[in-house]
Amino acid sequence: MKKFYITTPIFYPNADLHMGHVYTVTLCDVLARAHRLQGEQTYFLTGADENTGKILKIAAEKGQTIPEYLTGITNNFKELYKKLDISYDQFIQTSDKEKHWPGAIALWNKLVEADDIYKSTYTGLYCLSCETFYTEKDLIDGKCPIHGTVPERIEEENYFFKLSKYTQPIKEKIQSGELNIVPTTRKNEILALLDRGLEDISFSRPIKNVPHGIPVPGDPEQVIYVWCDALVNYISALGYGRADDELFKTFWPADVHVVGKDILRFHAAIWPAMLLSAGLPLPKALLVHGLIISGGVKMSKSIGNVINPYDLINEYGVDAVRYYLTREVSPFEDGDLTIEKFKEAYNANLANGLGNLTARIMKMATTHVKEPVEITKETESDVSVANHIEHFELNKAMDSIWERIGHDDALIAMKKPFSGIKSEEVAIRDEAVLIIKKLVRELYFIASDLEPFLPETSVKIKSAIKENKMPETLFPRKD
Ligand code: ME8
Ligand code: MG
Repeated sequence: MKKFYITTPIFYPNADLHMGHVYTVTLCDVLARAHRLQGEQTYFLTGADENTGKILKIAAEKGQTIPEYLTGITNNFKELYKKLDISYDQFIQTSDKEKHWPGAIALWNKLVEADDIYKSTYTGLYCLSCETFYTEKDLIDGKCPIHGTVPERIEEENYFFKLSKYTQPIKEKIQSGELNIVPTTRKNEILALLDRGLEDISFSRPIKNVPHGIPVPGDPEQVIYVWCDALVNYISALGYGRADDELFKTFWPADVHVVGKDILRFHAAIWPAMLLSAGLPLPKALLVHGLIISGGVKMSKSIGNVINPYDLINEYGVDAVRYYLTREVSPFEDGDLTIEKFKEAYNANLANGLGNLTARIMKMATTHVKEPVEITKETESDVSVANHIEHFELNKAMDSIWERIGHDDALIAMKKPFSGIKSEEVAIRDEAVLIIKKLVRELYFIASDLEPFLPETSVKIKSAIKENKMPETLFPRKD
């Protein structure tokens, strides 16, 4: 049986998740559901990246222990996932000493065995929000290019990973497509970075900075650097480094790691280098999506344009959120999200488009067709939908589905079964019934295509058809 292993990044539990994170998990969920529906053995991993210096401060500010704080915030993550119908198989937490630590330690030992770890003194500029070191030339006006904050100057004795050694092998894997980076713009971006050469990277921190981190094997004064620790989640969660590594045997290598463009370098350079060093297969693909912006600027708390996922879900319903993120945003570019745009798309394509078509067809079917229309197959899927999903182009897959919706609207307008059914002539009435039945089947197939994208709506439409009952209004118009 074909398998499909998909992952989200593990998010920092610094704060509650926003629409940016919701974007990544929704994208992954649709892909996971689509592959599951195709009968593939699918595994969908997500989680939280907990061994960071920042958590220490946040928990202290709240007067909580680290475990207390982490339990609270990750429960919020999981609650949101539930609300969003995210069908994940495992939520890995890097503070989990049973599930995660053995894998992180085993991998570290592999890097040591390969002679890729050495000790050295490090002076650098550390951005706590990125959990990464920068050089002067990376900074913009002396500030972190992502967070706009002044990084801390740090001098430490650290363990280093020989990342430089892997520049050429990684380049070859990416060029040959063995590690497929999608879209091409991101692939070229990383190839350009590799052309400039990779420098060795600090792979540990003094334990005083991150007392809850994973100790470096054989050196209790140091903990494994959070990115080295975090990337391993993709295999530790499957049992790498543990006795029960069945999942690892079944699912590794990943079919796709889905990440935002902000963490491309970690996934396209550092992670593959670690795997090569450990003699493990590389993931097959990296899907690098753009960022959700709002009103043209990056969604951020300080700008005040953050949209709370619950506000949208409560007002419009979960499938409206899933619709917007998969159809109205291109996975390969930044996507704009404002309440105005959201409402406009909702009214035009859900209240009017899909909602209205469903209501019209089911109204005719429940009034004029006595029995539920017989459905002899589950799908009559448009090949282009599957093809677009295969290439991660969820927006184009959705466009194909909406083309079909438009086509059925046009069919109703042209054939006018609602007037034919009132004809004096039996032949015309019979013809109208046939058209209505055809429309009901069409609607069923649309619902099948929509299943990975809008799972609740798909079920509602299908059960309305099977029972030949009018469904509740799927997407009430908003003014
Ligand atoms: O980087 N638009 O965690 P993080 C779209 N722990 N996606 C967004 C987004 C936005 N505005 N903001 C965040 C980390 N994301 C590390 C990852 S993985 C081994 C370790 C999503 O909480 C997007 O997927 O900062 C981005 O890459 C990720 O959240 C960053 O999450
Ligand atoms: Mg971040």
